[in-house]
Amino acid sequence: MRRPIVAGNWKMHGSRAENARLIEELLAGAPATPKATCLVCPPFVYLLEASRQLRDSSISLGGQDVCADTQGAFTGEISSAMLKDVGCEYVIVGHSERRLLYRESDQLVARKFGAALSKGLIPILCVGEQLADREAGRTREVVARQLDVVLELCGATGLEQAVVAYEPVWAIGTGRNAAPEQAQEVHAYIRARIGARDARIAAATRILYGGSVKAGNAAELFAMPDVDGGLIGGASLKADEFLTILAAAGPA
Ligand code: 13P
Repeated sequence: MRRPIVAGNWKMHGSRAENARLIEELLAGAPATPKATCLVCPPFVYLLEASRQLRDSSISLGGQDVCADTQGAFTGEISSAMLKDVGCEYVIVGHSERRLLYRESDQLVARKFGAALSKGLIPILCVGEQLADREAGRTREVVARQLDVVLELCGATGLEQAVVAYEPVWAIGTGRNAAPEQAQEVHAYIRARIGARDARIAAATRILYGGSVKAGNAAELFAMPDVDGGLIGGASLKADEFLTILAAAGPA
């Protein structure tokens, strides 16, 4: 039985005051024993404050990115150990915004994944095709390439302590979510691809869907057999929306 995860990726939004209010509302509204793991990923500079506010709560903390190297002369970068130090359990790696806007290669993403694992962080590996890829029938090819580089570097055992998020780029921030069946098809493919290396690990790996998940469509997406929760952008900035999405995950 895979315990679902609902993760909020706040991206570059918020302020100290706004975050404090949002977390307060989440803490007030989250069930004491949620059926799904819940976490939020604020911008780096707010992690410590969020961590203090979330202490002893049912909501975990994650970073939005991490450096592939462990320490040293890497101006502007944040290491896995630093994320751990301020209370993160998770970190997103390979978000499409980082791949596309900051030219992160599959290899760099895989190194970030490995760096996170090496310090005991749970990487959330984002994969997903752009619209042109989908229209050209290349969805599987793209997702396989992104996944395989990580599998090559870290092995299937690397995924044992990790989470995968399928985020079709055309669905991110567009209001146009993948249809549940479209998501299921790719999720099943991702699981099979991991399964070709290790069936046990594939069966246990949580695969989240991300891309315009809202309170109104979460339940039908999460009802798909290979969709184990969601990575939520815009809707994670509104406590009531995010809590409704959280409630939609997990056994009925
Ligand atoms: P939206 O939920 O705003 O579409 O963003 C999804 C996302 O990119 C989460 O990482």
